[in-house]
Amino acid sequence: MAKEKKIETADNLAEFIKILKENNELLEVEKEVDPYLEITEIADRAEKEGREAILFHNVKNSKYPLLINMFGSKSRMQLALAVDNLDAIGQRIRDLIKFKKPESFSEKLDILPKIMEISKFPPKTVKKAPCQEVIKKGPDVNLDEIPIITCWPQDAGPFITLPMVITKNPETGIQNVGMYRLQKYDINSTGMHWHLHKGGAKHYKMYKEKNIKKMPVAVAIGCDPASIYSASAPLPPEISEYLFSGFLRKKSIDLVKAIESDLLVPAEADFVLEGYIDTEEALKLEGMFGDHTGFYSLADYYPVFHVTTITSRKNAIYPCTIVGIPPMEDAWMGYATERIFLAITQLLIPEIVDFHLPPEGTFHNLIFVKIKKEYPGQAYKVMHALWGLGLMSLTKIIVVVDEDVNVQNTAEAWWYTLANIDPKRDILFSKGPTDVLDHASSEFAFHSKMGIDGTKKLPEEGFKRQWPDVIKMDESVKVKVDSYYEDLMKKSSHNIGFR
Ligand SMILES: Cc1cc2nc3c(=O)[nH]c(=O)nc-3n(C[C@H](O)[C@H](O)[C@H](O)COP(=O)(O)O)c2cc1C
Repeated sequence: MAKEKKIETADNLAEFIKILKENNELLEVEKEVDPYLEITEIADRAEKEGREAILFHNVKNSKYPLLINMFGSKSRMQLALAVDNLDAIGQRIRDLIKFKKPESFSEKLDILPKIMEISKFPPKTVKKAPCQEVIKKGPDVNLDEIPIITCWPQDAGPFITLPMVITKNPETGIQNVGMYRLQKYDINSTGMHWHLHKGGAKHYKMYKEKNIKKMPVAVAIGCDPASIYSASAPLPPEISEYLFSGFLRKKSIDLVKAIESDLLVPAEADFVLEGYIDTEEALKLEGMFGDHTGFYSLADYYPVFHVTTITSRKNAIYPCTIVGIPPMEDAWMGYATERIFLAITQLLIPEIVDFHLPPEGTFHNLIFVKIKKEYPGQAYKVMHALWGLGLMSLTKIIVVVDEDVNVQNTAEAWWYTLANIDPKRDILFSKGPTDVLDHASSEFAFHSKMGIDGTKKLPEEGFKRQWPDVIKMDESVKVKVDSYYEDLMKKSSHNIGFR
């Protein structure tokens, strides 16, 4: 494990833009661009070409600059979380776990909140905040002033795509911060696209069951990058995203009381939309939306968010992202989640050596898991355990391989698996909840699942023949060829590539 280098921690979006600039990770565009489709076309090309984050200074019909693709590479994701190696965060979690030494299964389940607490960076509340420098209430609220982009041709309208949606559990008072897209309906209302399995939706259900008509909601847009990322992280409900972002940043996040409710919002946000959801109001059609699956997610009914106040910084910057056919910016956010949450998953399922959710599987469709296999049926034990774990339960296909396979290389993982399976023997079909966005499942949010056991089979698993070794060169020959190989190749100008 490489030693962690100290990287500057941004306290807000403007500071992060400065860091991106210093690291040659920012492209500034003065040309006027249209928020209707044109920004998407530019960002999509840039993301697929592995280019920089883009700061558009001149977005048609808006005075605010727009930042896109801020998380769109491994190096930017590392800058966002102030590390030079995303695995270093998982290692910090492992070190803290060693320190806490959880024994029982329930202690292990409770470990993440404990780690966050001992990491000593709880959020701090301040009285005065940059996010409230400008306050617009009631008739002055106008979402048209914000350069909200329409991403794809069949989208139902413009969508806010990188929001931090803040709600409160009406029983415990614990806040949740989730990243759920918001379709702009008009100047003061949006859709609230929280899926059935998500924290915000659970809070909404509680308000409804308690017959509380007005559910306060605040949406922060633009913040320090670790806090924006935290809104997308699959944290258990008892962990505050603010505490988690303090842990990531190694620095507490400042919060301020919202103007209209007692929700605590990030003090350094660029914009805060304050308002409410009327739990007695009929749901409204939301979507279609060109989604991270690479397909349009179909229109469906969701609550309406009424925006009654907008507060902002004087020099606010509007950050957003686009999702679409992978790989996109969100693949790097997902990659950070994979690296960070591996440590917690290993605590609960210790035989897992590594896992990888390749971007083409768009998080929920495919995971490669490498295990240290020690007994028959262990691959199935791991599949069932993952299907029982938080948002992992939504995974459509789990592929389990042995510990000497590099699961970060999907070609290698498929090669190993395809060679090792007898399909009838090694494929398991199961059932369970699915991601709401899965358009192929016959029923909404419920589908079949497939587990593929790509591990070396044991006699008890019905394999009675000889299992061959993977081809491997002798170490002594490798060392010998290492000593002259580069020189040898330099002398040759012949290179026709692999195919
Ligand atoms: C760019 C982006 C957009 C997302 N949009 C949505 C969305 O519209 N609805 C949703 O339920 N989840 C969405 N997600 C996933 C959630 O943010 C993620 O599941 C998160 O863990 C939810 O937080 P929660 O567990 O506190 O609800 C999105 C993630 C990203 C990275």
